[in-house]
Parts: sequence; C-alpha cells; structure tokens
Amino acid sequence: MSDVAAIVLAAGAGTRLKSKKPKVAHEMLGKPLVNWVVDAAKEAGVSKVVAVVGHEAGQVLPLVQDACETAEQPERLGTAHAVQCALASEAMSGFDGAVVILSGDCPLITPGTIRSLVEARDAADAAAVVLTMRLDDPFGYGRIVREGFGAADGAEASSVARIVEQKDATPEEAGICECNSGFYCFDAASLRSALSRIGTDNAQGEYYLTDAMAVLRGDGKTTIALESDDPSECLGVNSRKQLAEATRVKQAQINDALMDGGVTMVAPELVWCGPDVRIARDVTLYPNVTLVGDVEVGEDTTLLPSTMLKDTHVGTGCTVGPNTRLYDTRVGDGCTVDETVAHEAVLEDGATAGPRAYLRPGAHLCEGAKAGTHVEIKKSVIGKGSKVPHLSYIGDTRLGEGVNVGAGSITCNYDGRNKHRTVVGDNTFIGSDTMMVAPVEIGSNVVVGAGSVITKDVPDNALAVARSREKIYDEWSLEHKK
Ligand code: UD1
Ligand code: CA
Repeated sequence: MSDVAAIVLAAGAGTRLKSKKPKVAHEMLGKPLVNWVVDAAKEAGVSKVVAVVGHEAGQVLPLVQDACETAEQPERLGTAHAVQCALASEAMSGFDGAVVILSGDCPLITPGTIRSLVEARDAADAAAVVLTMRLDDPFGYGRIVREGFGAADGAEASSVARIVEQKDATPEEAGICECNSGFYCFDAASLRSALSRIGTDNAQGEYYLTDAMAVLRGDGKTTIALESDDPSECLGVNSRKQLAEATRVKQAQINDALMDGGVTMVAPELVWCGPDVRIARDVTLYPNVTLVGDVEVGEDTTLLPSTMLKDTHVGTGCTVGPNTRLYDTRVGDGCTVDETVAHEAVLEDGATAGPRAYLRPGAHLCEGAKAGTHVEIKKSVIGKGSKVPHLSYIGDTRLGEGVNVGAGSITCNYDGRNKHRTVVGDNTFIGSDTMMVAPVEIGSNVVVGAGSVITKDVPDNALAVARSREKIYDEWSLEHKK
C-alpha cells in the first residue's frame, strides 16, 4: 500500500441533518464521522490521507488537521470538484500512484475493504474500480449501470458503463438494485484526465464524481465494480435516522469484540463503547453504561447501571456506579465510586467516593481515602486513609494522613476576591461543623472542637475550640412556660 493516497470528501454541508454543525463533525460513539473514515484509511496502510474540507471548515479542520493532510474546497460544486481540489493541493502535487476516494459521511468502512479496492484495481489493471452494494431499497443512491444494461439479450458485462444518480435516473435505471457506495480507487493519471472533462449537465447542476466512470469507459479504459459482501459498511449518514442506524451497527461490532475478549455485558444493546476503549477480562458492565474516548478498565471491575466514563482509567477490582459520570479521571485498584460525578480527579488504590460525591478538577484521594456522601472536593489532596465522610466542601486544601473531617465541615477558601489555602497535618480530628477560614494551617495530632470557626493557625498536638461558651439557665423552662 505504498504509493496509495486516500482522499476523504468532507466538505459538504449535510442539509438533510438540519444542523448547525457540518455533517462529518457529528459523532458516532463519541468520535466524529470524518475521523472514523480517516482512521480506517490510515489503518489500511495508505501512504497519505487528504481530507477535503469546505462547509464550516473552521469546525472540521480542528478534527482532522493533526490526523492527516487537508485541502480546501472553497465552494460546494459537487463531489468531482471536491476531488479536483484535493488533487490540486500541495499534498497531492506530482502524485501518480493509486487514489482511493472515501466519503467522510460513511463511517463504517473498514480498512480491509479499502485494501480490497486497491487490490482489485491492481489485479484487473483497471483505470477505476467502484465499491458497489445490492440493496432491497436503493432509493437515494447512485445506480450502477453495467455494460450491456437494457440489451435485448439481457447480457450484462462485468464492466461498469456509468453511474446514474437517483435524481437523473430513468424509471428503468431506478429499478437497478446495485448501488454506488461512494468508495472508489482510480489511478491518478486517469482520474485527473477524467475530472477535467466532467460537466454539470445533470439534475443538480453539480460536478459528479460518478461521471468519471462513463468518461473513462469512453476512453476505452477498464472500469469495474467490486461488490461488497456487507452493505452495512457502506451506510451513508445523510440524516439523523441514518446516524442512529450506523451507531447501532458499530455498537454491536464493538460490543461483540469486547465480549469475545472476556467482558460480561448484562444487556449489550444498552452499552455504548467508543473505539478506543480497552476493557480487561472479567469486567461486568450493567445497562446504560457509556464509555468514550481514552477509557481503560482493569480486571474484575463492575460498572453498575447509568455509568458514563470519558477519557478515564479504572483499575482492577473496582465497583463504579450506579449513576456515575467520570471525565478525565484516574481510579486505582479496589476503589468504590458510587453515584459520583468527577472531572480531572484522581483516586488512588482503595479510595472510595460517594454515594453522591462531586470531585472537581484537582481532587486527589490518596490510598484508602474517602469522599463520602454530599461531599464536594476541589483542587485538594486528601491524604492516605483520611476521611471526609459527610456534607463537606473542601477546596484548595492539603489534608495530611489519617485525618477525620467531621460532618458538615467546610473550608472557607474564598474571601470574595481571592482563593486561599488550608493545610491540615496528620492524624488531626476536625469536629463536625467546623469552618476553616483560609488561609489557615492546622497542625498534626490536633483536635478541633465541633462548631468551631478556625481563623488562626493551630499548633501541633493542640485542642482548638472557637465558639461561644454554652450557658445554662437552671429551671428556665419551668418559668418560661407558665
Ligand atoms: C454520493 C454519490 C452517490 C452514492 C452516494 C453513496 C455523487 C454525485 N453521488 O451521493 O452515487 O450512491 O454518495 O453514499 O458522488 N462533498 C464534498 N463537496 C461537495 C459535495 C459533497 O466534499 O461539493 C462530500 C460530502 O461532504 C460527503 C460526500 O462528498 O461526505 C458525498 O456527498 P453527498 O452529498 O453525501 O452525496 P450523496 O448524495 O450521498
Ligand atoms: Ca452521502
């Protein structure tokens, strides 16, 4: 596959999706359509990939510019014009190998099929090969007109005479069930020569790439079809309904592979995993689990219902969920994460979060630490074995090891203008309902009385109590209730 270039057409608007977002930027299982196609081409082993961008290029370019080369189609004049723009780009200048054309809106194409297209062209020494599929309902697709179509003896040859678009088809042509998938392989010289002779005399007034077949056939060149044995891989996403359909196909493929690898899914139709998800053996996924981006899950872990992981690593032997969302988070081995939302957080081995914890960026639970129920933690280290079990806010804080923070305690880290830090030493006991008014340092082995408002630093080994004294009025009720 040296000397093979792939052009990915991704400049169209996708009006049928009725979206502000260009079609190829819509996501299937957390990855934009165009990236599925670019990645398939790269995996097939082509020597270069050029994506053609145009409509809302500002939204498409950032998706592809690190993955492949790009060319711009300044206005949408049709698929042939888009290919011409790619060939005229710097990336393709002087290229004279084989050119594979892929549609950026057909995300299910496989590297194997891309290689088959290249091999079929080589084997037949053809100027062009088009991937075709036979559909019960071909409506909307270009139809493959074989040489000899409509001949009196009914004999059709293996070569392709032309491709006719739905809008241009006669009733007889519309009856053809063999359809154009939108994937082709050409030799570069034939493609350049054909493109220069394609016009816009058709129902849509566009330069159709499909016309290249008839032009090359007219030159006496060999133009053939390669019939796909799995039409689902050619599914084009032109509508939201087709997007859902394509997602379903890919979801089943990914889940089948994961189950083959030793993952249990209680209800695979209710599990959505992106392509970069890695799951070890003996992991169990309950319903409504969504894993997208760079996700890795270690052995013997259980993901309970309604769990969403994005760019998150979970170690071995964990229980995560139900009702949990983790983004850019690292969970060590043997952790329990229950009804928790976490962004850019770290849980070391044996840490626990929830039920109902909110771990914001920079929350770091060291080994065996706990963020319990209705606890919010931001930009803070909770030391080894330290516990914040109930109803607390801890922000911009460093808690030592073996600290216990009583229920309802809060770090007052914001004075209305700036954020300040709180530091608590090892083995300190913070009584319930303590306000730690930052900046403040509380030493090691300290006891803070419940209900304290701590505004001054507390030295090691001290007892700190900062609240008004309790007063007792003897027999007050007897008087008062008369
Ligand atoms: C196209 C084919 C049709 C085939 C179908 C398969 C043509 C004329 N028709 O139709 O025979 O059955 O694909 O899915 O080629 N694009 C550009 N620039 C443009 C126009 C389109 O980059 O000026 C891109 C689109 O973003 C899309 C791809 O080309 O990724 C195909 O265009 P689309 O409008 O979806 O073509 P179809 O009507 O599906
Ligand atoms: Ca299409």
